[in-house]
Amino acid sequence: MSRDAIIDQGYEAYTDQDHETWRLLFERQAAMLPGRAAPEFVDGLDALGVDAGGIPNFERLSDRLEDATGWRIVAVQGLISDEVFFDLLSRRRFPVTNWIRKPEQLDYLQEPDCFHDCFGHVPMLFNPVFADYMAAYGRGGLKALRLGALKNLARLYWYTVEFGLIATPEGLRIYGAGIVSSKGESIFALDDPAPNRLAFDLMRIMQTDYIIDHFQQTYFVIDSYDQLFEATRPDFSPYYDELKGKPAISPDTVLETDRRV
Ligand code: PHE
Ligand code: FE
Repeated sequence: MSRDAIIDQGYEAYTDQDHETWRLLFERQAAMLPGRAAPEFVDGLDALGVDAGGIPNFERLSDRLEDATGWRIVAVQGLISDEVFFDLLSRRRFPVTNWIRKPEQLDYLQEPDCFHDCFGHVPMLFNPVFADYMAAYGRGGLKALRLGALKNLARLYWYTVEFGLIATPEGLRIYGAGIVSSKGESIFALDDPAPNRLAFDLMRIMQTDYIIDHFQQTYFVIDSYDQLFEATRPDFSPYYDELKGKPAISPDTVLETDRRV
């Protein structure tokens, strides 16, 4: 099923400009992330770091990643179906868009490109617990599709994998790919007084809508990747039943039961 979605990276087709765009984005983000990104992300970035000179070759990067956690990355043209996406994750294959944004799009892009997918997502896949979480998420996704609960599960991905924060002894850190790959949001998510930063709560998150066209109004904070993995280990079928009767919570709402971090 996923075979049709996977393409050759087309490494030879990248222009000097494409590599220059990667380098610019990479250096800009890498310089900003110490003290902001989770230590696990920074560690993973070191593994990717040899590719600061240009767009990584997915095969070579996959060989290193596979040694660490059994994951490989595969090239895709752009958005793929939910079913293919979940099937890939469940088999420890992470789809990465092969094209990179144009120089005039450094700060804003409507759909994920190679920089978001690779720089944003791949470092955390070097972390064993997070790597297991992502594979379990893929299996959970296939089940959610069957149960008609995709909306609930997609919110979990959004508020953890894409926009998650983690509490460390040194303070809050970012690990979500949507934040770490964005210059503006890397600052906003931690420093701006506007957004809510709430303690991770699985059922609460699966009820919460999200916005895709500007910085988040609410971030959820985990204590550890183990907490995330343990909270999501149970069978979600009864959770989905329970959530079916409940109205969605809007992205900016803070409930009495929420704990601000
Ligand atoms: N345990 C979840 C289920 O039964 C699967 C899952 C794992 C979902 C990890 C998200 C993250 O559906
Ligand atoms: Fe993403």
